[in-house]
This record gives sequence, structure tokens and C-alpha cells, in this order.
Amino acid sequence: MCGIVGYVGARECTEVLLNSLSKLEYRGYDSAGIAVFEDGEIRTRKSKGKIQDLVSKMETEGRITGHCGIGHTRWATHGEPSDVNSHPHGNANVTIVHNGIIENYKKIKEFLTRKGYVFESETDTETVAKLLDCFYEGNPMQTIQRVLDEIEGSYALGIMFRDYPGRIYAVRKDSPLIVAVGENEAFIASDVPAILKYTKNYYLLEQDEIAVLDNGRVEFFDDHGAPKKKQMLVADFDEEAAKKGNYPHYMIKEIHDQPVSIKTTVTPRIVNGMPNLEECGMTYERLKNYKNIFVVACGTAMHAGLVGKYVIEKLARVSVTVDVASEFRYRDPILSKDDLVILVSQSGETADTLEAMRLAKRNGTDTLAIVNVKGSSIARDADMVIYTHAGPEISVASTKAYMVQLSVFYLIAFSLAYANGRITEEECRHLVEQLTQVPDQIEEILKTPENCQYVASQLVNADNLLYIGRGLDYALSMEGSLKLKEISYIHSESYAAGELKHGTISLVTEEMPVIAVATQRDLFEKTISNVKEVKSRGAYVVLVTHEGQEVDKEAADCIITVPSIDDLLMPMTAVVPLQLIAYYTSVLRGNDVDKPRNLAKSVTVE
Ligand code: F6R
Repeated sequence: MCGIVGYVGARECTEVLLNSLSKLEYRGYDSAGIAVFEDGEIRTRKSKGKIQDLVSKMETEGRITGHCGIGHTRWATHGEPSDVNSHPHGNANVTIVHNGIIENYKKIKEFLTRKGYVFESETDTETVAKLLDCFYEGNPMQTIQRVLDEIEGSYALGIMFRDYPGRIYAVRKDSPLIVAVGENEAFIASDVPAILKYTKNYYLLEQDEIAVLDNGRVEFFDDHGAPKKKQMLVADFDEEAAKKGNYPHYMIKEIHDQPVSIKTTVTPRIVNGMPNLEECGMTYERLKNYKNIFVVACGTAMHAGLVGKYVIEKLARVSVTVDVASEFRYRDPILSKDDLVILVSQSGETADTLEAMRLAKRNGTDTLAIVNVKGSSIARDADMVIYTHAGPEISVASTKAYMVQLSVFYLIAFSLAYANGRITEEECRHLVEQLTQVPDQIEEILKTPENCQYVASQLVNADNLLYIGRGLDYALSMEGSLKLKEISYIHSESYAAGELKHGTISLVTEEMPVIAVATQRDLFEKTISNVKEVKSRGAYVVLVTHEGQEVDKEAADCIITVPSIDDLLMPMTAVVPLQLIAYYTSVLRGNDVDKPRNLAKSVTVE
């Protein structure tokens, strides 16, 4: 999604803006632009394509330079990616960058057109820029307040008025924006990595709060213009953590981060060998009183919820329903005060998940957020939060965030099963102990990626692929399939192995490779029968199972084994080869692994 940056201070601001924008590239974008105060005028440069295209454009059009400016990476919603649709938008008097969607932009556009305004772009953003210009009578704060009263939808805005050089106004609603401060300098940004090169100190802008950055000082006002005091936060990771290090891509770095991420997430929540989520407000007593659990999330985070469902239901015998957030919101779910809604999100800003949470809250249902980004909207608004401590996840394809989401679901399942007497203390301790072994097992898997590289070389020219599994393996294969398709662009589907013969097996030929996941001992033979069905129809078959499992060598073309652990925990280790296969396939196809086409890291629009 769009990225916003802004800078006021002594540094050369074009340099800062371009650097900060480059740190937001992971969010996904198709054009970039900046606007800078130069000799008292607001000068703008923007270009379709990557930040490098903007830099090249500046070489021809002339580089702009100054000490106050705003910048933007655009992920097209209203209007195709083009120079003219790129941000910043505005005129000589007022210029803005925007993230979000202005839902009533057509009405505003009609109003402004009647006033004689002519529009150049197809964007909703241009209407906000022109409305600011239309309402402006010399007082920026009053103008912004008036505009906020008119616009509907979601926004994070960085605004500069020609009459106030050296000053940036920032405001947000339902789109993230932070304000960071250094020594006599200040920044705005959509996310923390953008400012880490300069400072770790930042403020989270609240809904409809207005920040004024003036010559390095920052002041905050509420939506009526009254000054506000805010608590400064300090980023808990540094620039290094948000860098690739010696890895060729963020994705592979983040796959390797997983053992540490699990430890940082799990260790503080184990007290005397038992799971303990009390610091998040989730006592055993509270947990056992919930009648039903709903897990609501999108994409990979939803897949983590599916594993959570199997584990919680199996261990604790409490019913869990997993919903895609965009569906949950509109299916009129039956929620009660005795239920718990768990929202899972890496970014904590996903629009549908955020709205699903608001729906649950309106119903008086308790909400628990499992979120990676500190202070994000979902984390702030949920009744309870369990932070996953994965550190910054930059690659669009989520890996370590999924892994720590799984870890939290295991902690919840163990706690709940113990709380309602379904497992003894001894059994609970054993499960916790097994969970703590997972990081070492993942380290082992990562030492020998060759088998996954080989599989990738076999899949690289495929057009279609099937993932199959049963039970937990089915939940896991959904994640394997998503990972592959989003970064390799090979169409793939995940199917319940036992359901294949009810239709989909007609697709299986020698042109359709199949990745079968069979880590669950009680279901192994059944899955193997399905493997034989596809193999006998010519499919190239990869089997992922655990060490020690007796397998007929003829059953599959390639067998990948991962260390053995309690069956319930197998998704944590078995997902690693699936991540690696997706990664190496994408690399072999020459794709932009970390920034796959059309995708954004943080989906802040519905
Ligand atoms: C896929 C992926 C997405 C996200 C989804 C939700 O690799 O990363 O499917 O999981 O967009 O995002 P968050 O977790 O930020 O709510």
C-alpha cells in the first residue's frame, strides 16, 4: 500500500525523502514522488515506476532540494499507475501526499468542478488537495479541520502550504502514520523502518489528531485544534534488524530469523514450564469461560488461525470458527458476550481485520489481537493484545510472522486445554517443552536447503500445482500453496487430500505436480493412498513428512523429511520446506521475490 514520508530539518531533504521511501518499498508501490520547499516554492517531481525512475527523472527535469518536504510511494487504487496519478498532488498553494481511500471523492469533485477547479488525475487524492486549496483562507489548521469534516473514508495525509515554508501538517484516520523526532528535526512516515536511519524516537498519531512539524519541532492537536501531550515511543529494533544483511532477499533472511523469533515470542510467556499469558490479560480463568472462539484474519494470518483451530479444538475441545475478515464482516456472524474473537495480523493495520474487530466490539464480544507491529491500530483498539515478537517483516510474503502467530496459538491452546482440565499439568509441561525444541529443529532444516532447491528446479516450469494434506497438514498446505503462488506466479491450489477424488483429480496429469504434506501419524496411510492416486495419473509428487516415518520409496518422486516432534507441532517445522520451495522457485523464475507484482505488505484498504 502507499507509503508516506516527510522531513523538516537541517539535512538535505531530498536525500532523506528518497532514503526513507526506499525503506517503505516493501509495502508495494507502482509510482513515487516528492515535493520540496525550494526557494520558498513547493516544487514537485513524480514518476511512474520505481524510486530509481524518480531519481532518473530528476536527472532530466532537475533535482529539487531543500530542508522541508514530503514523499510518497503509490499503490494504485483510483486510476492506473502513471506520472499524473502519482503523488504528491496539489498546486502552488497546497500540496499533499495521501494513503487510504476517500470514499466520497466523487461528490467533492462535483462540488469543486462547479467552483471552477479542473482535475488532472483520476485520483481521489486530488480532490482533497483541491478542497484544501478551496477552503484555505490563511489558517492551515482551520482549513484542515474543515476538510476533515467533509471527507469520508480512510486517510493518512502529509500537507504543505506555500505560505508556511518549513512546515508539514499530518493527520490520519484508519491509515497508519507516525511522527518521529531527532535533534532539531522531525519526520512523518507510514512505518518505523523509514526513520530508523535517523532516529528511534517516534509518536503514534491517533485518529484525527493533527501534528504540526515546524522547523524540527513537533506539536499535536486534537480535531478541535486543542494542543495535546503525547507519549513518545522508542523503536525496539534498529536499522540493522530491518536490513537484509548478507542474504540476497529479505524473504530468505526472514525464514532464517524464525528460530529467534519463536524464542523471543514464546520464552517470556513460559513461567515455571507452564504457558502464561497473564501479561496480555488472558488468565486461565478468563480463557476457560469462553464458549466459542472466532479467529478472523486475512491471507497467511488466517492460515495461522486454521492451524490454531485444529490445535485448540483437538486439545481443549472448544469450538473455533475461522473466517476471512472480508467475509466475516458481511456475513452477520452470530456473536455473544461469552465468545472470544481473535484477530491475527502482522501489520495490525489490515483494513478488513480492523473492521471485523470493530464489529465484534459493537456486539460486546471480547477481542484478542495477535499482532506484530507495536502500537498498530488493531493492537491499540483490541481488548487484549499478544504481541508476536518477530521484528520487522519486510518481505511481502510472510514467513516469520506466520511462524510466531502459530507459536501464540499453541500457547493459547495449551493454556486453554489446561484451564478447562482437558490436559494435565504434566501433559501441558510436555507440550510446552516440545514447543521450545522447535527453534533448534528449524535450524537443522535450514542447514540443508538442497532438497528444496532441487524440488524448485523441478517445479520451475509448471503452470499449475496442487498441494494436498489432511487435518493439520491440509491447513498447512494452504499456506504452502499461497506462498508459492504469490511469489512464483505459478497457479496453485490446496486441496483436502480425501476430497480430490470428488472432482479435482480430473486435473491431475503429468503436467500437474503435487506437493503432499503427511506429517500426522494417524492420517499418514490415508494421505499416502491419495498420493498413490495422483502418482498413478502421472503427477510429479513431492512428499513432506517427518523423520522416522516409514515410506515406500516409490510413493513419491522426492521425499523431504523434517525432524520429528509431537504431531500437533509438526506445522511449525513442516512449513519451513514449503517456504523454501516457494522461495527458490521464485528465485529460479527471476521474480522480484520480496516485492511480488500487484501485492502490498500492509493492506489498509478494503
Ligand atoms: C501473504 C501475506 C498476506 C498477509 C495478509 C494479512 O504472504 O503476507 O496474505 O498475511 O495480507 O496481513 P496482516 O497479517 O498484516 O494483517
